[in-house]
Amino acid sequence: MSWKHRHLLDIKSLDKSDILTVIETARQFKAVGERSIKKVPSLRGKTIVNLFVEPSTRTRISFELAAKRLTADIINFTASASSLQKGETLKDTAKTIEALNADIFIVRHNACGAPHFLSRFLDASVVNAGDGAHAHPTQALLDVFTMIDHLGDLEGKQVTILGDILYSRVARSNIWALKKLGAEVTLCGPPTLVPRIFEQWGCKVTYDVDKAIQDADIINLLRIQHERQRHAMFPGIGEYKTLFGLNKERFRHTRPEVLIMHPGPINRGVEIDSEVADCERSVIMEQVTNGLAVRMAVLFLVSGGQSSQIESSD
Ligand code: CP
Repeated sequence: MSWKHRHLLDIKSLDKSDILTVIETARQFKAVGERSIKKVPSLRGKTIVNLFVEPSTRTRISFELAAKRLTADIINFTASASSLQKGETLKDTAKTIEALNADIFIVRHNACGAPHFLSRFLDASVVNAGDGAHAHPTQALLDVFTMIDHLGDLEGKQVTILGDILYSRVARSNIWALKKLGAEVTLCGPPTLVPRIFEQWGCKVTYDVDKAIQDADIINLLRIQHERQRHAMFPGIGEYKTLFGLNKERFRHTRPEVLIMHPGPINRGVEIDSEVADCERSVIMEQVTNGLAVRMAVLFLVSGGQSSQIESSD
């Protein structure tokens, strides 16, 4: 297993063995998290910056905890309380923080390409924590880690992604990861949110939700990303829920061993009903747990770590 990347900007740039390296490394860090002492000194002395210019709960907190579990120092940058509000550019902000000897920038931004832009002039590593509708690589990595944990090899597995695909960075990064791992991907949602252009990515596109879910091994639900939509993409939430929401009745017609996934945040009662979100086939909380291990793995690997160096004893 080898890892050659200084940055993690998207899944497109990774090959299958890179994805499996992250998963194998994450598996080791997950075991560390189950010990009584959950910390390892792997990144002692490193400085990591959580540069979040868009709201986040899961990704920001799990990167923060990942850095702490690796014994790194972590700075949480709060955009609303920063000099960005006084007109300072993102580049000047990042260069200023880098002058304090930051080693890794974790970047979330509503503009597609912001992490790629920063990676062009920073000496530090850059990890994309979600940029606009473009990419969310650690979400895709934790998603495939969770799928592999339950199903093993994903070759030929049927994965349905249901919801707002057009505005979703999670969908794009999942499609890249799943296709590289040999899964069959079906996309479903309102036609305005699931354009047929995704067929050129090797996905099936259908607007028939019952057909999309009936043979799926995995159903990954996505919320409507209103914050990225410039105008109404469908008549209303009530209609969306009726036509595309995963409710108890629709769930009854899925395979008994289907996995229900959602990257969060969930809009309960819209894309998924609570009975389904919280049922025994739901692995949504496992995704959160695996996210911590995956983010530890990514921080470790972009710093030049090798999985053979991870402490294996308590
Ligand atoms: N899944 C995800 O990216 O959630 P947050 O926006 O809360 O980080």
